[in-house]
Amino acid sequence: MRVFLTGAAGQVGKCFQSLVNKTYPNVTLLATDRNQLDITDERAVEAIIAVFKPDVIINAAAYTAVDRAESERQLAFAVNAQAVGHLARAAKKHHVHLIHISTDYVFSAEAYTPIKEDHPCQPQNIYGLSKLAGESEAMACPHATIIRTSWVFSEFGNNFLKTMLRLADTHPTINVVADQIGCPTYAGDIASLLMKIIFSPEKPQGIYHYCGSGAVSWYDFARVILEQAWSDKMIAVKPALNAITTEHYQTPAKRPLYSVLNTGKISVSGFPPEPWLKSVPVVLAQLRKGSQL
Ligand SMILES: NC(=O)c1ccc[n+]([C@@H]2O[C@H](COP(=O)([O-])OP(=O)(O)OC[C@H]3O[C@@H](n4cnc5c(N)ncnc54)[C@H](OP(=O)(O)O)[C@@H]3O)[C@@H](O)[C@H]2O)c1
Repeated sequence: MRVFLTGAAGQVGKCFQSLVNKTYPNVTLLATDRNQLDITDERAVEAIIAVFKPDVIINAAAYTAVDRAESERQLAFAVNAQAVGHLARAAKKHHVHLIHISTDYVFSAEAYTPIKEDHPCQPQNIYGLSKLAGESEAMACPHATIIRTSWVFSEFGNNFLKTMLRLADTHPTINVVADQIGCPTYAGDIASLLMKIIFSPEKPQGIYHYCGSGAVSWYDFARVILEQAWSDKMIAVKPALNAITTEHYQTPAKRPLYSVLNTGKISVSGFPPEPWLKSVPVVLAQLRKGSQL
């Protein structure tokens, strides 16, 4: 099996490479980071796919700076939308299956019911708009799987878990938003899902929701992270957590108050999600081993 991965330096990209190296010697992986392949360069995308001839393309590259996107609309759309079109057209031309990753931020859900795939999309920020446009681009490939996920964390890159650990070192009290509800998702679980899809005889096609099981607020997610880090002796002092509202935590990009994805469709297809709670100690253990470097 020949797999071409973009976004190799990101959270999902690194977890995927680590999984291949540990468990899948039969996968021939070409993994490119932004320096090796800028996916906004259509000719470079076409050339690499023509030469490598993958069976599957995984697009884990994205512009993920949600707040910065508000002032960098053009760049966000170039990476999250137009570049997905380059990958989809090359995948179509060379008869390759495309797996693309999208986000819960395509929704603006304020209703408190887990969101299904066919729920009307209404992004509240530029990042979400660009990712929604990317989904349409990906659909240009006749063999495409789009995985919408949420609140990704891991031992790699920048994410909420690592921010909490960093703040715990310097702040006796941390303010955390308590009125946004979602599902944290371990990038390693996304990597495992991608691998299962790659090897499934009937690859699921179309849009699927996949996120860690268990809805939680950022405040409660922070509480779990700090409890575990403290019991693992990774932080000397457990900081006090102060629950605040979205109204009191102004950011350039608006975020949905409720972004719990309904994972029924992907579960029925044989790929049930994993509880994020069990991945928190796993990620902390990886950080202790220094594998984030
Ligand atoms: N992180 C989340 O909480 C979250 C939530 C929902 C959905 N998602 C989606 O999940 C997927 C993976 O996210 P992630 O957390 O792994 O993201 P990430 O850690 O930010 O990784 C994305 C990677 O894409 C690279 N990239 C940016 N522009 C590129 C370009 N023009 N050409 C090639 N590579 C480029 C980035 O490189 P640089 O670092 O050099 O810019 C980065 O290494 C994305 O599609 C994202 O939209 C993420």
